[in-house]
Amino acid sequence: MSNDPMNLTGNGKDFEYAVYDGTVGPQVIDIRSLYAQTGMFTFDPGFTSTASCESKITFIDGDKGELLYRGYPIEQLAEQSDYMEVCYLLLFGELPNAAEKEQFTTRITYHTMLHEQLFRLVHGFRRDAHPMAIMVGVVGALSAFYHDSTDITDEHQRMVASIRLIAKIPTIAAMAYKYSIGQPFVYPKNDMTYAGNFLNMMFSVPAEDYVVSPTLENAMDLIFMLHADHEQNASTSTVRLAGSSGANPFACIAAGIACLWGPAHGGANEACLKMLGEIGTVDRIPEFIEKAKDKSDPFRLMGFGHRVYKNHDPRAQVLRKAAHAVLQELGVSDPLFDVAMELERIALEDEYFIAKKLYPNVDFYSGIILKAMGFPVEMFTVLFALARTSGWISQWKEMIEDPKQKIGRPRQLYTGTPMRDFVPLDERGE
Ligand code: SDX
Repeated sequence: MSNDPMNLTGNGKDFEYAVYDGTVGPQVIDIRSLYAQTGMFTFDPGFTSTASCESKITFIDGDKGELLYRGYPIEQLAEQSDYMEVCYLLLFGELPNAAEKEQFTTRITYHTMLHEQLFRLVHGFRRDAHPMAIMVGVVGALSAFYHDSTDITDEHQRMVASIRLIAKIPTIAAMAYKYSIGQPFVYPKNDMTYAGNFLNMMFSVPAEDYVVSPTLENAMDLIFMLHADHEQNASTSTVRLAGSSGANPFACIAAGIACLWGPAHGGANEACLKMLGEIGTVDRIPEFIEKAKDKSDPFRLMGFGHRVYKNHDPRAQVLRKAAHAVLQELGVSDPLFDVAMELERIALEDEYFIAKKLYPNVDFYSGIILKAMGFPVEMFTVLFALARTSGWISQWKEMIEDPKQKIGRPRQLYTGTPMRDFVPLDERGE
């Protein structure tokens, strides 16, 4: 069913723009001919009202607090699926049957090792390098090792690169951690699950056997599922923009990792746990709530707010429940969890947060669980990047295979100096 066009009147002229329906969600106005017809650009810093692409992968309804991966609600996937199935679903659009799941999981398992030379590359970093710096560097460097999967025009090479990235990112993440604490790297083991293998590479040492706790393995797999994809967020948009120039997939994912690192994005889980530590006790919460509301203070409640979710973040709700369960099963009583629960309660009753529709987001509770599981705070965003790699590479693949895709090249509103002649040095005065 075709929609009535959107009419625009300006400079004494009338213009019509087609309106398209999605399967669900807001309609879009096709303004691709706007500049040619009007000589004007749209102005949308931060892309608050801009659909940058068409996608079939993930849908978010910010008002209802819904998150769908290929149509499946995140709550159902969290309850009944696992990360390998979610990776397959994001990449191929359907849940795998038993044979497909077995074949995909085996393919991932047998690509978890790294070229031995990469271990030497990591030794070029300082021991106190932030693990996200190592992630950006090593993932970008993969394009120097895996030349046989950098031709983006070749469907087979695109798939090989996708498998390699999903398979190797845990090995790289664990390697970054081991390097930072001066322990020997632990090689992947093919008889472990994706999450179990990662925990083994992270926490096992040559001196003794390491038994993967089912509680930690399940919590890890859940955290990977919840972080896998999230529509056109800042880092995914970065991956798409880098990919639109034809850059190889390893470089594009490295760009996504760099963007995710920011505290306004994936770096919020690390920043949130540090904030909870700074608050320290429940009685100091009001002081920080007031700071967050003070316009003259740049402080924000980390782990709160979201560009899209103006109701709850469904991932935060799943993580809150999982945090409780993990702490209980591990017998860990973390005062920061009590601070987090009380902070959430107070903030959700506060007029400012209600008016601005600020709710806990995915980063609010993830830090609590990850800390309870034994991860250092510097590894929190690394884990986010690990999990988001499946979403990034699925979005990259969709863009490359979209016949309508073009290089992304936004314009601007120029408010700088008009044209002027060069002034020689000796005429520039003091
Ligand atoms: C992620 O996009 C995604 O999907 C991202 C993500 C994913 O899975 O990829 O979901 C992952 O990045 C989650 C968000 C993690 N970031 C944080 O927790 C950092 C703290 N949150 C804020 O920085 C902020 O809420 C953002 C960045 C998340 C969203 O910012 P927006 O959409 O640009 O909103 P805004 O900055 O315009 O804020 C609207 C108002 C402002 O007040 P006014 O200028 O209108 O008076 O709300 C205020 C803000 O000052 N506000 C906050 C706040 N967040 C927004 N005030 C206090 N504390 C906060 N956390």
